[in-house]
Amino acid sequence: MRIALAADNGHWHKARLLAALRAQGVEPVLFSLADVTIETGGGEPLRVPGFDGALPDGVLLRTIAGGTFEATTMRLGVLHAMVAAGCTVWNSPSAIERSVDKAATSLLVARAGLPTPQTWVVSTREAAATLVAREARAGAPLVLKPLFGSQGEGLALIERPEDLPDAEAVARVYYLQRYVPRRDGLWRDYRVFVCDGRAIAGMIREGDGWITNVHRGGRPLPWAMPEAAAALAEAAAAAVGVAYSGIDLVEDGEGGFAVLEVNSMPAWSGLQTVCEADIAGHVVRGFLAAVRAATRPRLVVA
Ligand SMILES: Nc1ncnc2c1ncn2[C@@H]1O[C@H](COP(=O)(O)OP(=O)(O)O)[C@@H](O)[C@H]1O
Ligand SMILES: [Mg+2]
Repeated sequence: MRIALAADNGHWHKARLLAALRAQGVEPVLFSLADVTIETGGGEPLRVPGFDGALPDGVLLRTIAGGTFEATTMRLGVLHAMVAAGCTVWNSPSAIERSVDKAATSLLVARAGLPTPQTWVVSTREAAATLVAREARAGAPLVLKPLFGSQGEGLALIERPEDLPDAEAVARVYYLQRYVPRRDGLWRDYRVFVCDGRAIAGMIREGDGWITNVHRGGRPLPWAMPEAAAALAEAAAAAVGVAYSGIDLVEDGEGGFAVLEVNSMPAWSGLQTVCEADIAGHVVRGFLAAVRAATRPRLVVA
């Protein structure tokens, strides 16, 4: 089995995934999508370093090392071409597209009938202002999120139409979501790790403010994950079609949970400190099983 691992965004996850692959008897080729090139004119046009004119059977992605819109689009195109050639990619480029785009995630989660805070996506400041005037007020804001945001960056609470930034500042997409207030004076929400359809680990995330991302200082705390939270996270992962994912949940104030976000390239170093499950081991075993089970179309140029 020829396996490629893209995990060039930090040592910790790379070391865990490498060790888990080796424990399964697999020595992967480490690569960065930034190093994949295309060369037409003879042979397989997709050139993956370390694969000598061939393509891997499986690609495990911890990152797609994006950057500009163009670089990300090119890398997703490369991954789609790998899938078309019979390569198993975890997460698949289609799943990454659906989860990186918060609008697509909200659409799919809502369409699946899962609880999630009410969300609107509009393309003009005028439409956003109308919406904010109608739906928000002091003390009951909407959350404005960057469409491709992550790690809790760029979020803002909007109470009045005047709070809205210019269209350019949001790349001409306003993603607005009803703010869910926390109870008990604690800034807590939850992260569930779903792998291969199962919620394998979960934690409380406690912040010093309403944004609890670990990257923003949120602290991981052990959590006896209720069955309802596990089931909701599993259903959200299925709705977006992610093979492994980190699902953000929040308490809905009525004893249940609601889905805030689905991450297809989740970090788990914080979660691993407060849970029993060997997360890298689960990801690697699920991934290798998928590679072994795949039937390969023969699209690779001989
Ligand atoms: N609608 C909301 N109501 C209350 N808090 C929210 C809401 N949306 C996001 N948050 C807080 O902000 C954090 C980051 O938002 P999220 O949608 O997960 O985007 P990111 O991709 O930046 O992690 C969440 O983990 C949560 O703590
Ligand atoms: Mg999040």
